[in-house]
Amino acid sequence: MKQQLEAIRKMAEEAIQNAKDQSEIEALRVKYLGKKGELTAILKQMGSLSPEERPAMGQLVNLAKQAVENLIAEKQAKLKAMAQQEKLQKETIDITLPAKVKKTGKLHPLNTVLDDMINIFTSMGFDVVDGPEVETDHYNFECLNVPADHPARDMQDTFYLAENLLLRTQTSAAQIRTMENRKPPIRVICPGRVFRADEVDATHSPVFHQIEGLVVDKGITMCDLKGVLEEFAREIYGKDTAVKFRPSFFPFTEPSVEVDVTCSECGGKGCRVCKGSGWIEILGAGMVHPNVLRSCGIDPEEYSGFAFGIGLDRLTTTRYKISDIRLLFENDKRFLDQF
Ligand code: DAH
Repeated sequence: MKQQLEAIRKMAEEAIQNAKDQSEIEALRVKYLGKKGELTAILKQMGSLSPEERPAMGQLVNLAKQAVENLIAEKQAKLKAMAQQEKLQKETIDITLPAKVKKTGKLHPLNTVLDDMINIFTSMGFDVVDGPEVETDHYNFECLNVPADHPARDMQDTFYLAENLLLRTQTSAAQIRTMENRKPPIRVICPGRVFRADEVDATHSPVFHQIEGLVVDKGITMCDLKGVLEEFAREIYGKDTAVKFRPSFFPFTEPSVEVDVTCSECGGKGCRVCKGSGWIEILGAGMVHPNVLRSCGIDPEEYSGFAFGIGLDRLTTTRYKISDIRLLFENDKRFLDQF
């Protein structure tokens, strides 16, 4: 029995040594240590031994079992380590590979210029307000001193949504909404999209952007308007920029002006961009018409104000020397990636 035990142990040892994976090990465990396993079978034969022989033999069988158990545990640990090693080897990272370039988004040039404008005006004490893109005839024309039969309505080809509902043709509508909601002193700008049924070409788009400005307080004069707009033009275009005020007409201001700045392309010599004049028109402005103040419940005897409307698209195309306004709206990545 002793020899038999020794033989089983040897065979088990060899088999375990040669096992290649966990499932083979498990099969060997069952073969030798399981309920019907070979070592268990030997234990069962113990009944045939004399009572004196039994304890010594029992001990031997237990020792053999213990030895096989240890071998199995050792082999399992080894196999596990090998599998881990193999996995690590497969996962090695090649740190010499070039990194993947992550593309980050950036601001559209219109938004860059708008952010600059907002910074300039907020540093002068202006608040930024918002207004709706769908407006009523009342806010877009009527309260701005443009009655139904006024020829100024022909100056703007309007997208009407219903008889009294339209896409705003100017951010000036925000002036009225502001004066209805705030008491003077008022100092606001309102940037936003405006819409006109214009033919599309290099300088016209049915959607474009304006920044409306409005200041109302006691004792506001044309000097304040000039000071604010000159400061703004120099901040945007540089210290040496000359600013020219030309008399003009808008129904909601009196007197009205249009403001030109030195052409940034040619520095005032005259070129294709400024059509040879050396000047570029950037905005319309004026002193708020007494009728407009009155329509918002502000007494023109007590208060006065100025207003202006700046074309954001023109400012952007001149700053970045963009030759066609349509590029601003096409969202061609090749174009936008340049900014
Ligand atoms: N709303 C005018 C336009 O679209 C621009 C403008 C001119 C706005 C004079 C003003 C202003 O506030 O005072 O052409």
